[in-house]
Amino acid sequence: MGGAILLGSFRRCKVGLMARPLPPILRAVWPAAAAEPPAAAVEAIGRAVEVLSRRGLVAIPTETVYGLAAIAFDEEAVAAIFRAKGRPSTNPLIVHVADIAMARSLAADWPAAAEAIATRFWPGPVTVVVPRGPRIPDIVTAGGPTVALRCPDHPLARRLIAAAGTPLAAPSANRSEGVSPTTALHVLESLGNRIDLILDGGPCTKGIESTVIDCTSSPPRILRPGPLSRAAVEAAVGGPVEWPAAEPAAVTARSPGQQARHYAPKTPLEMPDDACGRVAALVDAGQRIGWLTSRTDDPDVRRLAASRDLVIVPMPADVEGFAARLYATLHALDQRQLDRIIVDRPPDDEAWRAVRDRLTRAAVRT
Ligand code: TXA
Ligand code: MG
Repeated sequence: MGGAILLGSFRRCKVGLMARPLPPILRAVWPAAAAEPPAAAVEAIGRAVEVLSRRGLVAIPTETVYGLAAIAFDEEAVAAIFRAKGRPSTNPLIVHVADIAMARSLAADWPAAAEAIATRFWPGPVTVVVPRGPRIPDIVTAGGPTVALRCPDHPLARRLIAAAGTPLAAPSANRSEGVSPTTALHVLESLGNRIDLILDGGPCTKGIESTVIDCTSSPPRILRPGPLSRAAVEAAVGGPVEWPAAEPAAVTARSPGQQARHYAPKTPLEMPDDACGRVAALVDAGQRIGWLTSRTDDPDVRRLAASRDLVIVPMPADVEGFAARLYATLHALDQRQLDRIIVDRPPDDEAWRAVRDRLTRAAVRT
């Protein structure tokens, strides 16, 4: 006991006056088929509940990206999320629930579209926006009349929500405008000592943020494209859903978090029409380049691969595989002091819309 206190104060002193220690990372992964979690998971969930109940911030894994969680009913704890991320108070948070019953208890009205989407896809990578019930504090919705709800498909997250017995407000666990984290170490790197605990549930399988659907309008409207396609949503609701008309550079803020610049790595990123030509020109000019491409068999790409100042990252050609690897690749390249990241322009069809959306925002420099 005395040793633990001494160690704690030593770590605090070493990093400077008033500095907080780095958060512990508790790792707990187990096979999806296993009915019961291993002892490590039970212990991690217990620690997380304890931290949350004293208004702390816990990073949690989900199938999309890691989230930074606090008890949704606790205004002070939610305010700490905004501070830790440097997030503007005008950008509302998603509230994570254990099941549909918990979601309904937070909504003033539960539209048929929300029921259809939740029944078909939860737990899963889709968020429904519905009229907000009285239990949700203003700070969560940025004062708005609606609340965004999602039941994540990750055993650690769901068990944590159930064990805490309360919904958790959680944005992506990164500093505002940065690239979302898809591993526990990305969270540590971005938020470090600004948070209290990190639950490591392994890499996120989807790799991009959930599809956000406004169920208060008729027809329902997709506010943020994500892992679920428009066609899948339309099949679930049994009718058309609206889709943002413009690609991101021209999007005006309908969903308050949908600023043009978002998801950006520190290294400038470009998505040129002729990636090969652009990479060749930049390398010739002496720049250090990272290049995300699926065309590693292309003779032009192979010729360039010999350049010393070029890191070629082979990307999966299928959209799910590409999305799952995208953020981890950007995080890794950001560590390498490159002058520029080049990404092949993804196909122009609807299936790639969510990936194109993230890349277009990442490429905007203000
Ligand atoms: O996959 C995800 O959605 C991840 C994981 C952690 O669940 N969360 C996430 O949260 O991406 P965040 O805060 O980074 O993005 C939430 C998006 C923002 O664009 C925000 O503006 C929008 O959802 N949003 C939240 N509440 C809203 C509301 N009431 N009406 C419209 N948009 C809302
Ligand atoms: Mg985010």
